[in-house]
Amino acid sequence: MNRVHIKTYGCQMNERDSEAVAAMLRARGYSIVEDEGEADVVLLNTCSVREQAEQKAIGKAGHLGRRKKRNPNFLVGVMGCMAQNKGADLLDRLPDLDLLVGTQKFHTVPDHLDNLIASLQGQGPRPSTLVDLEAEAGSQNTIRDHVPGERQVSAFVSIMQGCNMKCSYCIVPKTRGPERGRPIDDIVAEVEELAAAGTREVTLLGQIVNQYGVREFPFVDGKSPFVQLLERINAVEGIERIRFTSPHPSGFKQDLIDCYGRLEKLCEYIHFPLQSGSDRILKAMRRPYSVEKFSRILEAMRERCPDLWVSTDVIVGYPGETQEDFQLTCDAFERIGFDMAYVFKYSVRPDTAAEPLGDPVPQEIKEERNQILLDKLQAHSLRRNQSLVGQTLEVLVEGPARRGENRFTGRTRGFRKVVFTGSERLVGQLVPVRIKEATVTTLEGELVLSGVDLDKVPASV
Ligand code: 5AD
Ligand code: SF4
Repeated sequence: MNRVHIKTYGCQMNERDSEAVAAMLRARGYSIVEDEGEADVVLLNTCSVREQAEQKAIGKAGHLGRRKKRNPNFLVGVMGCMAQNKGADLLDRLPDLDLLVGTQKFHTVPDHLDNLIASLQGQGPRPSTLVDLEAEAGSQNTIRDHVPGERQVSAFVSIMQGCNMKCSYCIVPKTRGPERGRPIDDIVAEVEELAAAGTREVTLLGQIVNQYGVREFPFVDGKSPFVQLLERINAVEGIERIRFTSPHPSGFKQDLIDCYGRLEKLCEYIHFPLQSGSDRILKAMRRPYSVEKFSRILEAMRERCPDLWVSTDVIVGYPGETQEDFQLTCDAFERIGFDMAYVFKYSVRPDTAAEPLGDPVPQEIKEERNQILLDKLQAHSLRRNQSLVGQTLEVLVEGPARRGENRFTGRTRGFRKVVFTGSERLVGQLVPVRIKEATVTTLEGELVLSGVDLDKVPASV
């Protein structure tokens, strides 16, 4: 009864929350299994950001419910954003659920599973669904554990929870609650532990990372708590690279811009959500910046860091988005030149400011706009990736590639994925790789041996 499979939907925050749950469960004697079919317990960590993400998880939970009919000892739980959003109403659709755990209660999962299993084993009555969705002070500090003994060359570190913005389309303030930052010392201690266990790259996670701690911790020498945190992590021995996601253009001040080029571990890559290229739509979305201001911040960063790689999020088909508005988004794409983008078709979310506006832009128009942006993006990404052919870049080797003998994969500082022939011993090292070929998503490279510590490279390379 102790094999648990966790399936994660949604963003990196969710991935990190699932990892923390896995670590807590292992510490309690559970084993985490990759194969859902082998599991005694399946936990779905869910996303609510779009309707489709919720439907997927509901479909999956329904399917797992049927497995319970064959095996009454099989347990199914739903955690995270959809549990928080839909609450106990979810039980109308999924009456067989054993566990429903909200976004501030991930740390209670081991206790709940212990209790459920004890009841199943006859030491108590079979319980009805355990529902744990309350807000909890300090819950941001509970997403801290990493699975011991499992080396993560690149690790996520959750620095805060929640969001105080009021973007009209967004359900996150509802699902994740108000913004709460973890203390800097705790975060740094976690990063030091990761470094000691072999982590070389950390990605700091928060809904709006540049707002980290602004209410809780003081500015020092004009530097925001987030910049202070970056400085502290930059000084951690063993950590070679720092990334973060996601910042918001509002409150993206000079102190953060100045970090580029100043903090040598901060990578030349930023995920910088634009959402729309039309000021009119940005205003309707309650995003308090103009396209001009967004571009100026990026220009200032590029001035300090000419090699900057930029990705973004864009929503197409927001209520009232006209052809002219969409054209402005296309123009912004051309002008700014994003290297990667996540393009989303607008989805009405309950209890958001935009909900009363309905969903007036027809699905076909959303599809068409989505495709136009993806085509632009592909053309740009390919051009930029091809510009790297012939260059030798520093790659952090993350592990074996999905396919091919002796094939390994890693990333450049600009977050480009590189595949090359190498050796297990290079995992976790920064190695020079000459780029030979480029596609939209991947670079094919060749290890440059002269820069590598030859003692550590086997003769076969
Ligand atoms: N519909 C479509 N996309 C959305 N996003 C957030 N809410 C919605 C919604 N209601 C997108 C935003 C955000 C990303 C995580 O998801 O672009 O940056
Ligand atoms: Fe992540 Fe937002 Fe989806 Fe929650 S709703 S999983 S915070 S993207």
